[in-house]
Amino acid sequence: MELAVLTAGIPVLGICYGQQLIAHLLGGDVRKGDKGEFGLALLDLTGEESQLLQGVRDHQQVWMSHRDKVAAPPPGFRVLATTSTCDTGAIEDSARRLFAVQFHPEVVHTTEGMRILSNFLFNICGCEKDWNAGQRISIIQDLIRARAGDRKIFFFVSGGVDSTVAFMLCLDALGSERVRGVYVDTGLMREGETQFVRETFAGFGLIRIEECEEEFLQALEGVREPELKRHIIGEQFVKVQERIIEEVGLLSGKWILGQGTIYPDTIESGGTAKAATIKTHHNRVPGIQKLIESGHIVEPLADFYKDEVRAIGRELGLAPQLLDRHPFPGPGLAIRCLCAESDEPVTRTPDGFLVPVRSVGVQGDSRSYAPVLAIDAFPSQASRLQDEATELVNRSVGVNRVMARVATREGLAHQHVFATTITHGRLELLREADAIVREMSYESGFDKEVWQFPVILIPVGAGESRDSVVLRPIQSVDGMTADSVTMPDELLHAMAERLMAIPEIAGVYYDLTHKPPGTIEWE
Ligand code: XMP
Repeated sequence: MELAVLTAGIPVLGICYGQQLIAHLLGGDVRKGDKGEFGLALLDLTGEESQLLQGVRDHQQVWMSHRDKVAAPPPGFRVLATTSTCDTGAIEDSARRLFAVQFHPEVVHTTEGMRILSNFLFNICGCEKDWNAGQRISIIQDLIRARAGDRKIFFFVSGGVDSTVAFMLCLDALGSERVRGVYVDTGLMREGETQFVRETFAGFGLIRIEECEEEFLQALEGVREPELKRHIIGEQFVKVQERIIEEVGLLSGKWILGQGTIYPDTIESGGTAKAATIKTHHNRVPGIQKLIESGHIVEPLADFYKDEVRAIGRELGLAPQLLDRHPFPGPGLAIRCLCAESDEPVTRTPDGFLVPVRSVGVQGDSRSYAPVLAIDAFPSQASRLQDEATELVNRSVGVNRVMARVATREGLAHQHVFATTITHGRLELLREADAIVREMSYESGFDKEVWQFPVILIPVGAGESRDSVVLRPIQSVDGMTADSVTMPDELLHAMAERLMAIPEIAGVYYDLTHKPPGTIEWE
């Protein structure tokens, strides 16, 4: 087999599988590696002259995700760089203008990734730097006008950054007569959220609030299984959406649906063969898919990452307190309120205490549910422990994440998991805990140091206090990978003290796990 693109005389850059495909097609040797290489590696330059790696410093950090490898490059290729596990980190055939790297230059964890991509685009391909970020709003708005034609646009807004910026772009492009929206109050939102939406959009008078708490809680009654919860919430959303689509007459030809879908949403919910299982996202359910196929949808932000969406929002003049909001998942507090099938004690293991709740982890592009390891360590050692946590997850069979005890009414050995479901009372407890954490991180300025700060309720405790709170502050660029963040001791203890003043709370824990292996959310 031959790929025409490889013989067309144009420059080609193969990344990861792309390198392996180029090697395979042009007579190199691709085979399964003895071990995988997932995560950080150091790139050692061989000293070969290279257009692709021009200006790249030796021994720089790169991000790898592979097991198969190019054991021998095709004839004509020179090896430019290696890592301790990979003899063909980067290869180049300058005569044919074919270039390939095993690592990922496009992720932030590859220190010189941008330089490599820049070398390829501007030096090798001869592209011109004529993209002006300042023009992107007018380009997006032209697209919105073209897609809408003489139709109006209808939105389901969530109060989050993406749907708000998408809504405002359309409002700006089409004017207030042609854009409307509804906010669905699922009863799974954080404290004050509906009020926030009311205040944010009230001035425009363009959004109506649909109260659906009863519907959602009824549908979730007795449900404990994490993926089933997500599924039910997704279905319920679709029911409400379809009811409203019908009511508004969205398929009548006068309206189309606007959505705040951003680029990572399309990757994590079906952009690749297995990615459909990474996240079940309600922007991509069958009812919506039908609207997409029939041209009844506009997604003005579908090509952008979160940081770009925020920049667009700033250019539109939206308030910082709106744009700097942390992301919040569509299924809401339901996936932060863990349930359990039966009462079970925690058990002692050589590494700590095994807590039999099920939390989600991600390895490669599939999700797995497993218990959590609790360790009795002073949280100020967190930065060291975070490095060890990945190691512990790899070593402790069947564990997805590691959390440190911050405060408990009784020792770890006395903790139990209690059988429970999502109840109104537990949601209220989670809302109260979440509000305390948000208020204290805002007042201390800590919220600016993190990308997101989920607060999770787990059915773990002793005696009459049957729930505990997990703090999960993380740093990330796009949510695809994330680092557990160390909190200042003083703030952590003050937070724990306020949380422990709630009688129903049995303990406070601190999640030490990076993503991978643990996802940001617990379900
Ligand atoms: P995970 O838990 O997959 O989360 O590491 C990555 C980012 O995605 C958010 N998230 C969701 N957002 N619908 C959403 O709109 C969802 O079903 C969903 N699940 C996770 C999560 O909060 C984090 O920012």
